[in-house]
Amino acid sequence: MTSPGTGVGHGKLILCGEHAVVYGHPALAFAVTLSTTVQLRPHQGPTVIDSPHADPRVRDALCTVLPTEGIRAFVRTEVPVGRGMGSSAALAVAVVRAQHPELEGQALIDAAMPIERAFHGNPSGLDVAVSALGGGLSFRKGPPMEMQPLELGDWHIVVLDSGSPGDTRAQVAGVAARRPDIDVHLERIGALVAEARNVLHDAPALGALLDENHALLRAIGVSTPALDDLVDMARGAGALGAKLAGAGGGGVVLALCADPTPVLDAARARGIAALPARPAPRHGAHP
Ligand code: PMV
Repeated sequence: MTSPGTGVGHGKLILCGEHAVVYGHPALAFAVTLSTTVQLRPHQGPTVIDSPHADPRVRDALCTVLPTEGIRAFVRTEVPVGRGMGSSAALAVAVVRAQHPELEGQALIDAAMPIERAFHGNPSGLDVAVSALGGGLSFRKGPPMEMQPLELGDWHIVVLDSGSPGDTRAQVAGVAARRPDIDVHLERIGALVAEARNVLHDAPALGALLDENHALLRAIGVSTPALDDLVDMARGAGALGAKLAGAGGGGVVLALCADPTPVLDAARARGIAALPARPAPRHGAHP
């Protein structure tokens, strides 16, 4: 339970399908237990945003939905910012929940999308949908958005942080500029997502598809040497598959593991920030 005027949004990880999802292909993702909380309190004078992040986009994004006067908004987040883990969508969902606790499902997603757009320009809606609905999700942009809940397998995900942020807006624009030459790769990503959906409970088969997804993300120009190194390290430590997660250009890699310990140990031995990602529970009924 949260107190009145308080809303929570979860971060997310994209299992497969980022970037291609912007062009109407499906993607699979899940909400993680790391979250953002927004608390709204009455306040005399112009609205104030109290956030640990100096990023002016936080203020600009929140001002798309908050009144110009009379509110102090406290933003606190556990979701790493600019790491491909959906921090802006978590913020968007949290502030809408703080204002309108009655909204759920598609109505909550629709209300949070303008805030996500203020950050990213032309988002697919995947991050907002996963943050709003929780659990695992198969998503297609639409309109209308197609969303089905996913039962994830009993594998583990380890998140490895490259230590540098990625800029989602710039990466999405870079992919757009490389089309149509890279459309063949975007189409293969879409097909691979459909295959992944059928092998969610077959971890080695899923891992092989995640490896292929990373190769395709490299081919469309969104990986970096640091992300490629993390992928290689995870595979060398026994991961069943690994890929960058989110927009790329920085951010995180996710590694699919039967046992997370060797990958966590290998990362820590090299001074790489690593954490096991736990799926957040589903919220309410799916739209
Ligand atoms: O980097 P993130 O967490 O904002 O994820 C972006 C996902 C993309 O597919 C690259 C863009 C989108 O809008 O779906």
